[in-house]
Amino acid sequence: MDERILGKDLKVSSIGLGCMGMSHAYGAPADKKEMTELLAAAVDMGYTFFDTAEVYGTPERPYDNEELVGTALKPYRDKIVLATKFGIRFDYESPQVNKPLVPDSRPEVIRKSVEESLKRLQTDHIDLYYQHRVDPKIPIEEVAGVMSELIQEGKITHWGLSEADEDTIRRAHAVCPVTAIQNRYSMMARWYESLFPVLEELNIGYVAFSPLANGFLSAKYNKESKFEKDTDYRSAMPQFREDSYEKNRELLALLHETAEKKNATPAQISLAWMLCKKPYIVPIPGTRKPERLKENAGAANITLTAAEVEAIDSLLEQMEMSDVFGGTEVRNR
Ligand SMILES: NC(=O)c1ccc[n+]([C@@H]2O[C@H](COP(=O)([O-])OP(=O)(O)OC[C@H]3O[C@@H](n4cnc5c(N)ncnc54)[C@H](OP(=O)(O)O)[C@@H]3O)[C@@H](O)[C@H]2O)c1
Repeated sequence: MDERILGKDLKVSSIGLGCMGMSHAYGAPADKKEMTELLAAAVDMGYTFFDTAEVYGTPERPYDNEELVGTALKPYRDKIVLATKFGIRFDYESPQVNKPLVPDSRPEVIRKSVEESLKRLQTDHIDLYYQHRVDPKIPIEEVAGVMSELIQEGKITHWGLSEADEDTIRRAHAVCPVTAIQNRYSMMARWYESLFPVLEELNIGYVAFSPLANGFLSAKYNKESKFEKDTDYRSAMPQFREDSYEKNRELLALLHETAEKKNATPAQISLAWMLCKKPYIVPIPGTRKPERLKENAGAANITLTAAEVEAIDSLLEQMEMSDVFGGTEVRNR
């Protein structure tokens, strides 16, 4: 797979692997042996960018994902870029399927998180450390100050912000240069395109999470698709409601038509669309299945011209679409 540069110098495969769904939000955690093999297969296929977070787990196994990723990728540690996140916990007491999250970026909490993540990831440094959500109670300058110290100490080499707005990005970057933001981005969720100018001005990369709108844009789901009620967030996501398939008819048709024209699949078109839009966008689709890992990696070889991307954008702007999942509720601590 070819590579892209995030920020000044962080070289990553142009498509990364989002590891969250192996442990969190997409049903009960997947089989460890299968996921270990999947992660090794990803390295073989040229994925060098792996995304996890301190909180990707379940009430029973809160750190499942970092533990899995740390163990499975240990043999390849020198060849890959490991990204993880700090600064939230889930409210597991909530009856909601998608548990509300509680931001906590107090410096002492970050310090504890980084030490524990390093242990679980079985490494002496994290390549990209994101604040998972902005903490309204801690000025971002203070968080950036802690990042600066962690860089000096060699515990992290780059840092970023997730779901951050322009003001936060600017203030953070002024204290300690930000390498990448990680925000939601897909054909159904385009509200952060307004950040492109500031990312270009400050030379910050855009890691796109949920780039397939949680799988919907693969066009492999339909009215009959069912998701585990208590453990799979998709059971409560608006794009997977029965009436949404009809509302998204035009979008699905556009994906199928473009896929046919490019000899590709709808999932590949969804990823190629953003890759061809900006050279600093890196999508991190998640999957538990080896054939999809390969399919998604194949998107890096598909070219959509600037005119084709623009034409898709203008169709997306005019067509009817269902609502799309925009993130879990954030609660104050
Ligand atoms: N910063 C944040 O707050 C935040 C929030 C959400 C996610 N993330 C990160 O972003 C990553 C990706 O996001 P996501 O997993 O929410 O959404 P996504 O990548 O848009 O979708 C993942 C879902 O799509 C399915 N899928 C993937 N490739 C497919 C294909 N080619 N054909 C059909 N289905 C396919 C997967 O199912 P199968 O497993 O069955 O293939 C999985 O259920 C996460 O793993 C995580 O690392 C970050």
